[in-house]
Amino acid sequence: MDEMPGPLPSEVDLSQPNIARMWDYLLGGRVNVEADREAARRLMKSMPELPGVLRANRAFAARAVRLLAKAGIRQFLDLGSGLATVHPAHEVVGEGDAEARVLYVDNDPVVAAHNKLLVPTRTCAVLRADLRDTAAVLESPQAQRLFDLNQPVAVLLIAVLDSLPHADRPADIVARYRDALVAGSCVALTHAVGTQPHTSTIQAARAYAKHVAPVHLRTRSEIAGFLNGWDVLYPGLVPTPDWRPGPAVADHEATWLSGLAAVAWKPPQLAANRSAPG
Ligand SMILES: C[S@@+](CC[C@H](N)C(=O)[O-])C[C@H]1O[C@@H](n2cnc3c(N)ncnc32)[C@H](O)[C@@H]1O
Repeated sequence: MDEMPGPLPSEVDLSQPNIARMWDYLLGGRVNVEADREAARRLMKSMPELPGVLRANRAFAARAVRLLAKAGIRQFLDLGSGLATVHPAHEVVGEGDAEARVLYVDNDPVVAAHNKLLVPTRTCAVLRADLRDTAAVLESPQAQRLFDLNQPVAVLLIAVLDSLPHADRPADIVARYRDALVAGSCVALTHAVGTQPHTSTIQAARAYAKHVAPVHLRTRSEIAGFLNGWDVLYPGLVPTPDWRPGPAVADHEATWLSGLAAVAWKPPQLAANRSAPG
């Protein structure tokens, strides 16, 4: 194996594939073992576009984090982070600000266990929590140690809101983070979109649901609803590879499957209401 950092706790079973390690493999990372690679190769037979979709999402996250760091944001809350490999937020912010803070939150215990070994403890922390529980995240010892919540925080929601069913009211969850954080805080999100004539997205979502986990495709206006009360930055809510593209050539075949992306900030007139983050 495999240059996986260790020692790993007992809940990490390397004989079984793990979705986050499969992603890592498909992204070209090194935190994966043969069981992950085999499962990832099987999945790619049903979804050949998957690596392009993953790359497009990670690349957007890196562009968004870089922009927000340049704008002076020094605290990043990565919700549904997956593994902190392949352009993780702390490496991207670390390019310009060695003191910037990143809290990685994921509800998968395997992800949290790996991430604890992957991130520098001085400027980063790892929390196993459900992002739907705003208070459990923002009032966690990790958030309290790492963040000054009187200063802006950038919330990253990359390819994770689509794992939440409509009954979870994801728009309300995003609003709770907005309300709990001070003005000047930001959100960067991507979300799978399922609208005609992009039937390939619907087929891909079916394959993903069959092999991995349900994906809740939403319409453009439903995704735009997550940004209510935030000021959306240029160029708005656009296909993920088209959001302020860098010099790298976009994966055009993955454009629609990569969903829509936006970055937005909380305008000054909205004060933080941390009394009831919910
Ligand atoms: C598709 S992956 C995206 C990972 C990463 N954001 C990226 O773009 O590569 C979704 C991640 O969100 C996590 N996740 C799903 N639902 C969650 C929840 N309710 N709370 C916290 N994490 C969640 C999963 O465990 C998984 O690691």
